[in-house]
Amino acid sequence: MVEQIDVVLGCSFGDEGKGKVVYDLIKKNSYDLCVRFNGSGNAGHTIYDNDIKLVVHQLPVGVLVSNVYNLISSDCLIDMSRLKMEIDEIKEKGFDIAGRLFISKACHIITQECIDYDRQNNKIGTTGSGIGPTYSQKMLRVGKRVEDYADELKLLGIEVVDMRQFWFSEFVKKNVNSVLMEGAQGFELDINWTNHYPYCTSSTCTLAGAINTGIPISKIKNIYGVSKAYDTYVGAMQFQPEEYNDELNQIADLGKEYGATTGRRRQCNFLNIDNLKEALIFNNCNICIINKMDILEDLNIFKVYSGKKIMTFATLLEMQIHIIKELSFLEKEVLFSFNPYTI
Ligand code: IMP
Ligand code: MG
Repeated sequence: MVEQIDVVLGCSFGDEGKGKVVYDLIKKNSYDLCVRFNGSGNAGHTIYDNDIKLVVHQLPVGVLVSNVYNLISSDCLIDMSRLKMEIDEIKEKGFDIAGRLFISKACHIITQECIDYDRQNNKIGTTGSGIGPTYSQKMLRVGKRVEDYADELKLLGIEVVDMRQFWFSEFVKKNVNSVLMEGAQGFELDINWTNHYPYCTSSTCTLAGAINTGIPISKIKNIYGVSKAYDTYVGAMQFQPEEYNDELNQIADLGKEYGATTGRRRQCNFLNIDNLKEALIFNNCNICIINKMDILEDLNIFKVYSGKKIMTFATLLEMQIHIIKELSFLEKEVLFSFNPYTI
């Protein structure tokens, strides 16, 4: 029986370090089930364990922890050939997903036609994974769904499930007490909440996406909003303000701001606290995690946007105090992370 649900959500443009947060939370709290609820291979969730780097795209991070069950729910998209590759890759590194991965029968399949269309009509700088065209087909109700691939998935050790039955199943009753919902992308890329349409993704990256899996919402305990000490964005829109290139390029270099999925250089800007506040409020977050504080600490660059203007601080501590004050509406806390392994 599901008794505790925690949710991890991106509160910026993706790449906030959600993978690390999810992995650390699973290790510390030993959740029974990890759920992906939006997006697909456009995501790249990177984790470091004892200096081994692991990246998953479509798979929930929970596949990298033995004994954790994993679910990919209905609003995710599946690229079958990339899924096989991803499973092979993690198998080579010693992880077995057999019997540990469930996929909703209602997930739509990314076809080669959709990938080609995405790559040939790419004005906004997508990841080229076929996301927009496949969600379009879903809405047009002409798409292919996972239910047609159940046999193939079974051979991979994956079980196709009906979400209307999954939560009531004997399996869940017996095995699933605690659940971690793993968001992909972030608030600023959400199809409805973005301030930058059409420079966004096509899925629901917010709490609404997590809830749309059918989880019992009264059991939600913590909603972690994840952000970074500075903002980054990958795509065709101009994002990095040129007048601050000196500082922002230093941040990009030290922060190794290259996409886990496409290898593209991420544009950088200082953390926008006004936007972060909105992301935390509309996602109902009670905890905010701000990653990569070590990068700003090492560079001695302490700037944020707050009240629609740039604020410069003399010390990191002053910047942290300002952030904590601005986010004091949070029911719980602001956590600053200074390393790639833990919160
Ligand atoms: P799409 O999701 O591939 O359609 O790409 C749409 C926009 O979202 C592009 O600017 C992508 O770079 C961005 N995007 C999609 N997924 C991610 C992610 O996981 N992290 C960062 N940016 C992403
Ligand atoms: Mg990423």
